[in-house]
Amino acid sequence: MTSFVRNQWYVAAYGREVGRELFSRTVCGEPILLWRTESGAVTAMSDRCVHRRFPLSQEPSHLDGDKVVCGYHGFTYGADGVCVNVPGQKRVPRTARLTSYPVVEQDSFVWVWIGERDRADEKLIPRAPWLDDPGFAVVSGMEPLAARYDLLVDNLLDLSHETYLHGGYIGTPEVAETPITTEADDAAAVVRVSRHMDDAACPSFYADSTGIKGRITRWQDIEYHAPCLYLLHSRIAPVGTPPPDADGSDPDAFHVEVVYAITPETESTTHDFWAVARDFALEDQKVSAFMHDNNRTVVLQDVVALDVLEKAITAERDGYQELSINIDTGGLAARRILKRLAEEGAATGEPAL
Ligand code: FES
Ligand SMILES: [Fe+2]
Repeated sequence: MTSFVRNQWYVAAYGREVGRELFSRTVCGEPILLWRTESGAVTAMSDRCVHRRFPLSQEPSHLDGDKVVCGYHGFTYGADGVCVNVPGQKRVPRTARLTSYPVVEQDSFVWVWIGERDRADEKLIPRAPWLDDPGFAVVSGMEPLAARYDLLVDNLLDLSHETYLHGGYIGTPEVAETPITTEADDAAAVVRVSRHMDDAACPSFYADSTGIKGRITRWQDIEYHAPCLYLLHSRIAPVGTPPPDADGSDPDAFHVEVVYAITPETESTTHDFWAVARDFALEDQKVSAFMHDNNRTVVLQDVVALDVLEKAITAERDGYQELSINIDTGGLAARRILKRLAEEGAATGEPAL
């Protein structure tokens, strides 16, 4: 089974999910209570009361201003997790405090640090700026996955499966046929996988959203920041469109930034956050609805497949062997990096010694 990579930032929620209601989500096996103070800051603390472990997200627990009151016997905690009131006595035990988690709201996500508190460094959080940029229109969601998170990492680093699992949506024959280039930066814990198709069929996901008729140049440039953030820079343009200028400007192409935050919930379940940001048809609600529904369908195709795969490999009593080929290079690099991070508990971005 998976061992969690600790001392890392993980996406616990979208900012829009957290408000003045008590909200709970489990990350790396730890139930975390999220809520906003009256001034709007997100706080993250253990979702288990120190008294008898009652979940603080469970009614009748509630917020009283900037305090959480346990619904079982009334232990009351401040926004820093420190207990300020217990029933029936004046003295609050010194050890009555909830674990509180470093938390940062950035790029529409709520990130929490799992591991040793004093190692939490905001600068280590990988960025997905398109998700909070008026120059892009964004659709997003989260699907629960009944599979270990490694399976989703494997899935996303090898997009040749689009041809088979997502045929008719985002898959065309050229995806599986076109070779990839892979680059792993072990020290920074980043894997890059690129596939550039010069002359490919345009799948309905892009034909219907961009209005392109006919064949396209389609680039898929993946950047996986282990363990949690996956970016797919997707460039779509009619065949014959000039390549981007040296300064990066690329006015004749369409750009879609696909973002996944891959957050382990337990050893065998995962929060599959997905978002699609586009730089065209910004105000077109029909395009937004289409991309949302179509991408969710594609994500659910993966979810169904990975749920089945999790059951299949769990049932292999005597262990199992795999057979890897060229398309697996990125996934294997990611596995190697995740194994190292799990073993050394190193913070992403710190050079390996
Ligand atoms: S379990 Fe919370 S006050 Fe008793
Ligand atoms: Fe997929």
